[in-house]
Amino acid sequence: MPRPLSRCVASMRMRKVKWAVEYLEQSQKKAAHPEENRGAWRSGNTKLHVELGCGKGNYSLEMAKLYPDDLFIAVEKNESAAGIAAKKFDESECENLILIHGDAADLNLWFAEQEIDVLHLNFSDPWPKKRYAKRRLSSAGFLEVYQSLLSKNGEIQMKTDNGPLFEFSVIEFLNAGFILSEFYVDYRRDPHPEDAVTEYEEKFIRLGQPIYRCVFKRGDGAK
Ligand SMILES: C[S@@+](CC[C@H](N)C(=O)[O-])C[C@H]1O[C@@H](n2cnc3c(N)ncnc32)[C@H](O)[C@@H]1O
Repeated sequence: MPRPLSRCVASMRMRKVKWAVEYLEQSQKKAAHPEENRGAWRSGNTKLHVELGCGKGNYSLEMAKLYPDDLFIAVEKNESAAGIAAKKFDESECENLILIHGDAADLNLWFAEQEIDVLHLNFSDPWPKKRYAKRRLSSAGFLEVYQSLLSKNGEIQMKTDNGPLFEFSVIEFLNAGFILSEFYVDYRRDPHPEDAVTEYEEKFIRLGQPIYRCVFKRGDGAK
């Protein structure tokens, strides 16, 4: 018998990693002062991807390997998860991979207007209680910032296992003037090798849960 989903999800919560703080201080791939690179992350035609809430970093790492000409910046606020991601990034051969240990609420301190090409929201915390809805990374306050930081052809790619969060997010994207480009209610029914599987996604796939995915383009109505 499979375990109840609530217990599986609970066991996915992050344990404190003792070495994380010290590791993050000396990591080569962690941006020590990301605000100093504001407006200057890209060189030439490099496409800039930013993943918000990267967890242990698998997605950005695998995507950086798949797309070596693009630059991937992974943002994570949890110290333990960020420490693990930083170690993985350092041990990889990838030169196109950077970690920012910080809160997505500070995104506009690190990136300039129209600097980001693709924003990735993978299995974001759902914050199911209405009083915490503003903390959802797809809520209106965040979307206003994303609109200004995305390039003219920029887009948001979102994946989740959580139906209510998906529905909430789609409505928020539309209300904010984003334009729907792709929509899936069972994304991994087909393998999609062009898009890496995240740690959470792997677990939900194993549990037989459908993966929801949408892609929204920055609308013309964007400021
Ligand atoms: C449910 S986990 C998903 C991790 C990973 N994206 C995956 O799919 O395996 C959500 C992650 O987002 C991080 N997170 C939540 N809110 C954040 C924020 N405001 N800024 C940065 N990271 C955040 C959490 O610390 C956590 O590691």
